Amino acid sequence: MSVGIDEISFYTSNFYLDLRTLAAKQQTDPEKYYTGIGQEKMAMATHDEDIVTMAANAALPLIERIGTNAISTLLLATETGIDQSKAAGIYVHRLLGLNANCRVVELKQACYSATAALQMACALVARQPTTKVLVIASDIARYDLDTPGEATQGCGAVAMLISHNPRIMAIDAEVGNYTDDVMDFWRPNYRSTALVDGKYSTKIYLKALKKTWDSFSEVSRIGFNDFSYFCYHLPFSRMAQKAHQHLAKSNQCELSAEGIEAQIQPTLRYNQIIGNSYTASIYIGLCSLLDNVKENLAGKKVGFFSYGSGCVAEFFSGSIQEGYQACLHTQRHMDMLAERQELNYDQYLDLYRYPDPRQGESVEIPKATLGRFRLAAIHQHKREYVAC
Ligand code: HMG
Repeated sequence: MSVGIDEISFYTSNFYLDLRTLAAKQQTDPEKYYTGIGQEKMAMATHDEDIVTMAANAALPLIERIGTNAISTLLLATETGIDQSKAAGIYVHRLLGLNANCRVVELKQACYSATAALQMACALVARQPTTKVLVIASDIARYDLDTPGEATQGCGAVAMLISHNPRIMAIDAEVGNYTDDVMDFWRPNYRSTALVDGKYSTKIYLKALKKTWDSFSEVSRIGFNDFSYFCYHLPFSRMAQKAHQHLAKSNQCELSAEGIEAQIQPTLRYNQIIGNSYTASIYIGLCSLLDNVKENLAGKKVGFFSYGSGCVAEFFSGSIQEGYQACLHTQRHMDMLAERQELNYDQYLDLYRYPDPRQGESVEIPKATLGRFRLAAIHQHKREYVAC
């Protein structure tokens, strides 16, 4: 019996800042962003969006197709938590109308936690093959203004239905893991933006890639040349390009530079115009691959490198299934991205300074999102979500 991704869909905000606008304000050459880090636009969540509304919006197309009956567990992965105790997934559970006997848990480990959720979901389904697990990753990447990290912000959520005999991708059991106690990126409870040692973080990312690959190679028979495509964690697309060149070189890959690049290029497209969505980013990369490659990918092996600062990393693999095209949400994704609106710099600042009441003050939030779910108000420390 195979286990893996039966359906996948993502959501991002309807608003974005072009990095040319940021560069102009900073008096920086825009090519530093467009070429140097490989990013063009970054999605900005509206005041009435957060990880709950993005998660519900990402999962809605799946629920509309398969209903709620078989979902036994909802795992929500995020590092943009809205509460220290209550799992954000419980709000999503209500918004989606999931069954009362569906368990809900939130997972955190920087950008890695969606992969932990995916692996746990596969294990649950392997134990009870009649059930399905809904895995959602949802994050808003925020750095301080006027810091090197500012251009690598973004937001997004991705929802994956995990089942036996999956229609999109079977996930292999063998994995390579790496954990190390490092301070490359972190966000203490009292901060709404991350702290990061940027250059160090890129070095640790590459080190973790090599370590997880070595560990994966010890347990798996799949070699570098067996993979057609690779999905990397995408803090910015140039990071994945560097990582993939590094991995190809250490495996003495005989492909041309263009051949190596072609193994990741289709996975980068959505990230380049959305930005970092932390734990969702690697799986939005998978959507980008599935939606944008026109040839039939059935039977192709995909390698995944999942990295979460702090750090935990994992290399694993999957195989694309025959007939996967019928299960995709390509048109919905394309329409959502095409309908987005560009922000000017002042509008960006306004969204950046989203309401973040800490003392229990009441906030009524005007409607701005085009998504189906939104955060309408915060009263007495309670967040009020509604369907539009
Ligand atoms: P920086 O230090 O301002 O940028 O920020 P830079 O000066 O290194 O320039 C970047 C690249 O642009 C360089 O290329 C420049 O040469 C080039 P490279 O040498 O790297 O190949 N460049 C230009 N190219 C063309 N035309 C120009 C031009 N000017 C410069 N005119 C940094 C870069 C990554 C440090 C910053 O964006 C940052 O701090 N980002 C946040 C941290 C991050 O994303 N780290 C990635 C690894 S850690 C991770 O992935 C985990 C994470 O997602 C969090 C989690 O796990 O939860 C972040």
